[in-house]
Amino acid sequence: MYLPFKLFKFIFCILLLINSILCYDPPKRCFHNSLIIDDRLLIFSGYTNISDYTFELFYLDLSNSFENDKLTWTLIPDGSLPVYTWRSTAVLDGSTIYLYGGFMLNKGTLEYDYSNLVYKYDYSTSSWSTPNLGGDTVPPRQDMKGVIDNLGKIYIFGGYNATNLTSSTGNLFNDMNLLNTASNTWTTLTISGSIPTASDQYAANILSNGIIVYFGGVEQVNANADFTLASMNKIKLFDTSKLEWSQMDATGDNIDARMYFSSVLTPDGYIIIFGGRTYSATGSFTSVSPKLAKLDTNKDTFEWSIPSDSDLDSPPSIYGHTANLYNDFMIITFGINLDTRLYSSSAQVYLYNIKSDKWVTTFSPTENQTNTSTTNTGTNKPITTTSASKKSSNSLAIGLGAGIGAAVLITCIFIVTFIVRKTKQSVKDKQPNQNGQILEIPGSNQQLH
Ligand SMILES: *[C@@H]1O[C@H](CO)[C@@H](O)[C@H](O)[C@H]1NC(C)=O
Ligand SMILES: *[C@@H]1O[C@H](CO)[C@@H](O)[C@H](O)[C@H]1NC(C)=O
Ligand SMILES: *[C@@H]1O[C@H](CO)[C@@H](O)[C@H](O)[C@H]1NC(C)=O
Ligand SMILES: *[C@@H]1O[C@H](CO)[C@@H](O)[C@H](O)[C@H]1NC(C)=O
Ligand SMILES: *[C@@H]1O[C@H](CO)[C@@H](O)[C@H](O)[C@H]1NC(C)=O
Repeated sequence: MYLPFKLFKFIFCILLLINSILCYDPPKRCFHNSLIIDDRLLIFSGYTNISDYTFELFYLDLSNSFENDKLTWTLIPDGSLPVYTWRSTAVLDGSTIYLYGGFMLNKGTLEYDYSNLVYKYDYSTSSWSTPNLGGDTVPPRQDMKGVIDNLGKIYIFGGYNATNLTSSTGNLFNDMNLLNTASNTWTTLTISGSIPTASDQYAANILSNGIIVYFGGVEQVNANADFTLASMNKIKLFDTSKLEWSQMDATGDNIDARMYFSSVLTPDGYIIIFGGRTYSATGSFTSVSPKLAKLDTNKDTFEWSIPSDSDLDSPPSIYGHTANLYNDFMIITFGINLDTRLYSSSAQVYLYNIKSDKWVTTFSPTENQTNTSTTNTGTNKPITTTSASKKSSNSLAIGLGAGIGAAVLITCIFIVTFIVRKTKQSVKDKQPNQNGQILEIPGSNQQLH
């Protein structure tokens, strides 16, 4: 009886290990980072619960279709982050991730640690390293967004710097810092002319002509002034070839000012924003309207519009989420639901089809193969040009999937008995931190009333 039990335990443990990678259940989070490499939507960092740290790197496979509420997350066991960070920025250079800034905690001591501000992840070897950066001193920042041009230069505008980590107070900046990934140098640009107002939590997107479009977020007119939301019509443009700023007043529909929202740039020059919330120094913030809007950057004067069906089947008001564009789909992950003030479920993502301008529930990797020039009969069936070899690899994948699925199902049944007690306990822990200043806005200003 003893040996069979040991054998059973051994098999069980192996299956448990496979299971933990295959049916990975990621902690809910906000203020995280997400990037797409190699048909994988990678998620990492973010704020979960100050006494519950997570360093995992995991992904959603975008090479297959899925329903938005039936997700399979996969853990990359070697990809664990070297630090705990949230409100940082992550920029993709080929298949290398540059992770910069944010609030950073040392994994060993669990103390704030700003000794290294840039980390690099090499996707092909699944390893994190600390690049040796020359040039100017890297400024510590939170709540900024980096964008990369096609020469491998990462531009990082302003952001927030917490000077008191107990009260999370600090100042906003309006400098432009450049990380050259080719030469591994860091430069704080000296720019003359119209420098924009210091800000953070803005949207940043680089157009194909090399102009970076910034708008939204929080502003501070001078170092002693209160923080306020920036008008969504106030567009700040940075020309990466001339290294010059200019401003533009956008026209079109009224879009509420907001922070902690997401933006994606479509191949045809529209910036689609989603979610966010109002600024609050006191903790009483509200949702914003509309939840989704589009900025047309093809016009000489950029123009806002609200797609007519964008409220239909819309997700709830969310902030602190991320958005990524993959073919025709904008994929919204995690964040906090403003109605319930709870973290979004990790069991679902939200999908917006940028071609049909509708929220949808099914993701399909080949959606953009739909020939939209044919008469649309409403069936919306993609024209599939699946080759024979693709079909056979599909059935192989289905077979494999079914095999793994059966194994997973059996182990899940075993595991359920083991985790039921644990789950009951941890349900209580899944509430968002309502009182912690970490979830609250950066730099509640001393002079606020
Ligand atoms: C804010 O800036 C100061 C001065 O550069 C730096 O010492 C400090 O670490 C920064 N704070 C954070 C939270 O990055
Ligand atoms: C930081 O903020 C806390 C809480 O408001 C305050 O008690 C403390 O004195 C501040 N520290 C400094 C160095 O200003
Ligand atoms: C679909 O979109 C991706 C990226 O936007 C592009 O690389 C690919 O060529 C497109 N496929 C078709 C069939 O249009
Ligand atoms: C759609 O199909 C028509 C007819 O075959 C073709 O002329 C057109 O270029 C196609 N459009 C796209 C976007 O593929
Ligand atoms: C954070 O995690 C700790 C430890 O699991 C738990 O006691 C606490 O209730 C959690 N806090 C919140 C706000 O979820």
